[in-house]
Amino acid sequence: MENIRLLIVGAGRWGMNHVKTAASILPHENITVCDFDPASESKIKSVSEKITFVNNIEDAKNITCAIVATPAETHFKIAKELLNNGIHCLVEKPITLNLEDAEELNKIAEEKKLKLMVGHVLLFHPAVKKMKGDIEKGRIGKLQYIYSNRLNLGAIRSEENILWSFAPHDVSVIQYLVGENPIEITAKGADFVQNGIEDTTITYLKYPNGVNAHIFVSWLHPFKEQRMVVIGEKGMFVFEDSLKSEKLKFYKKGFKNVEGKIEKFEQDYEVVEFEEKQPLKEEQLHFYNSINSNIEPLTDGKHAYEVLKILVNATNKLKINL
Ligand SMILES: NC(=O)c1ccc[n+]([C@@H]2O[C@H](COP(=O)([O-])OP(=O)(O)OC[C@H]3O[C@@H](n4cnc5c(N)ncnc54)[C@H](O)[C@@H]3O)[C@@H](O)[C@H]2O)c1
Repeated sequence: MENIRLLIVGAGRWGMNHVKTAASILPHENITVCDFDPASESKIKSVSEKITFVNNIEDAKNITCAIVATPAETHFKIAKELLNNGIHCLVEKPITLNLEDAEELNKIAEEKKLKLMVGHVLLFHPAVKKMKGDIEKGRIGKLQYIYSNRLNLGAIRSEENILWSFAPHDVSVIQYLVGENPIEITAKGADFVQNGIEDTTITYLKYPNGVNAHIFVSWLHPFKEQRMVVIGEKGMFVFEDSLKSEKLKFYKKGFKNVEGKIEKFEQDYEVVEFEEKQPLKEEQLHFYNSINSNIEPLTDGKHAYEVLKILVNATNKLKINL
């Protein structure tokens, strides 16, 4: 990792998690943090005196890669400048606010042979990896239905709605588990707190292999719930990241056809063990390894583009339905 010289742009709520994570992986002299808010400097120095702090990206010297953790509307401009200067980029979600910008970032990265990755951190969650592996081994049989609830009385944003704030995570995991792109997208939502900014949305996805999915996101909800249910012909997974323990469960439940009669089968659930690893650390390690080993990141610019396509499509449906 000695050759990784990292710039983190944006030291806000999420950016600070990136700073602390990077400090647990890289030599501190190899980390520069940029935030135009001068008050960020003391937060950075409290992590390590050896981390360099700058107010402008142009003042960051001798860097090879960057993490962009600024608000979504700034991602395109910052990532474009960095890529054009030959810097590999990990951009926080959503990668950009529209498809044209995401396409342009992909094009620059491809032309300059740089890594472009998006921070869909759940794809680095060991429980999600475990589900994916077990699905591939046939543990739940043919995939049928997935739903995801991401609910909280959360931080309300005014520059984006709940779909853009929460759903990129769910969309990215569903895309990863299904391994296809949807053929039909519908969405409905409602705005209660701020006019024209949805607090709650439901998005339905239909995939070509018969898999259906829905995503329910809300920041107007009495308690935190992060629950994904994955249903197959032979069994079901329930992944609840908001729980302290027993986050992943397997239920051998469902229906089978026995000589023309539909019969129910059900057993008690089993807790599924998975590796104890911190998803954000795994995400950063994946970024650095993809640079060092010249491999395409799992959440590369093309994956980011497909997730964005779903968000844009769902947004168009929301506008019709609001
Ligand atoms: N992957 C995840 O699970 C996850 C979770 C939360 C947020 N995020 C994403 O992270 C990004 C940041 O979110 P946040 O909640 O930390 O926002 P925030 O508003 O708390 O912080 C943003 C920081 O960026 C700085 N900034 C803005 N423009 C800048 C520029 N041009 N140059 C330098 N600094 C600049 C601001 O001063 C601020 O300190 C968003 O894209 C968000 O969607 C991802």
